[in-house]
Amino acid sequence: MSPYQPTILVTGGAGYIGSHAALALKQAGYGVVVLDNLSYGHRELIEEVVKVELIVGDTSDRNLLDQLFVAHNIAAVMHFAAYIAVGESVKQPGDYYRNNVSSTLNLLEAMIAAGVNKFVFSSTCAVYGMPQEIPMTEQHPHNPLSPYAASKDMVERILADFDEAYGLKSVAFRYFNASGADPSGCLGEDHQPETHLIPLALLTALGKRENLYIFGTDYDTPDGTAVRDYIHVSDLADAHVLGLKYLLEGGESEVFNLGNGNGFSVREVIETAKQITELDIPVVEAQRRAGDAPILVGSSDKARRILGWNPQYPDLQRIIKDAWQWHQQRHR
Ligand SMILES: NC(=O)c1ccc[n+]([C@@H]2O[C@H](COP(=O)([O-])OP(=O)(O)OC[C@H]3O[C@@H](n4cnc5c(N)ncnc54)[C@H](O)[C@@H]3O)[C@@H](O)[C@H]2O)c1
Repeated sequence: MSPYQPTILVTGGAGYIGSHAALALKQAGYGVVVLDNLSYGHRELIEEVVKVELIVGDTSDRNLLDQLFVAHNIAAVMHFAAYIAVGESVKQPGDYYRNNVSSTLNLLEAMIAAGVNKFVFSSTCAVYGMPQEIPMTEQHPHNPLSPYAASKDMVERILADFDEAYGLKSVAFRYFNASGADPSGCLGEDHQPETHLIPLALLTALGKRENLYIFGTDYDTPDGTAVRDYIHVSDLADAHVLGLKYLLEGGESEVFNLGNGNGFSVREVIETAKQITELDIPVVEAQRRAGDAPILVGSSDKARRILGWNPQYPDLQRIIKDAWQWHQQRHR
């Protein structure tokens, strides 16, 4: 790093992925300011673990944004703040479009007014809908199947239009299944309510939940359960630092998949979690959920090629081991 260390605004930085990215940015030498309304985030992760400035506020608050862009001389924004529960988005679409689209638009307009034109965005592989080919590349057609996925797709469209109109340069990352925890064991996943398979399996192993539900055992996959691409959250965080560097060095707007390129079935995840925890994980086999694809695996060749991204923890054992270390200390 040069002696000049740009300051990055990390929205949603008190959440799961944002807190890991804030730590990675700090370790790479950037100044970091976190903006989080703490609707789902955890204050102590920022104050006690990442140890950067936390501003408790909302991305819909234009006055707050105008002040903080000037006061902190923000050079770029990493935008994690959003609601993330697919099922809830079907029942409460207005909340999702308001928080994920309108508030993002507010943030982008505040950036343009402040002369800040670099933006790293958390998108999702859910923009693709049902896969037409595996692995899925960035060229795969879009068919978002929920208001959540549609909200991310809309923001991607807004970003393309803001580049055209205002020269806003963005990197949108379409994550596959974010998982694992910082290898230190001090940061990790704590969603309330939890909907992701690995933490649910570990919470069941800990006795915090009675059973783990397997939704669908009759898919056309080797063991009948759904196959997903799990990517370690620290590898995601590294990609964000590389995406930011790419933009700061003058890169054009791009979208990138972030996944491992390897698929693991629900049963493989559960078996690996049993081996690592050495505890039983009682399961209940249930019907498929509407909209769940049998297999979702992405190609991240583009991120490797253009950003030089090289995931350090591609192995499922390692992902679950790091998540387990975090869960044990979080739920002591
Ligand atoms: N977890 C995954 O597997 C996954 C997959 C694909 C995409 N994503 C995207 O990654 C991002 C982060 O996901 P996460 O798993 O860390 O979720 P999270 O809920 O842990 O983090 C989101 C954070 O944003 C904050 N927030 C929400 N709305 C806000 C607002 N209007 N103003 C300020 N703060 C606000 C919440 O308090 C929370 O701390 C989200 O945009 C999500 O859609 C996550």
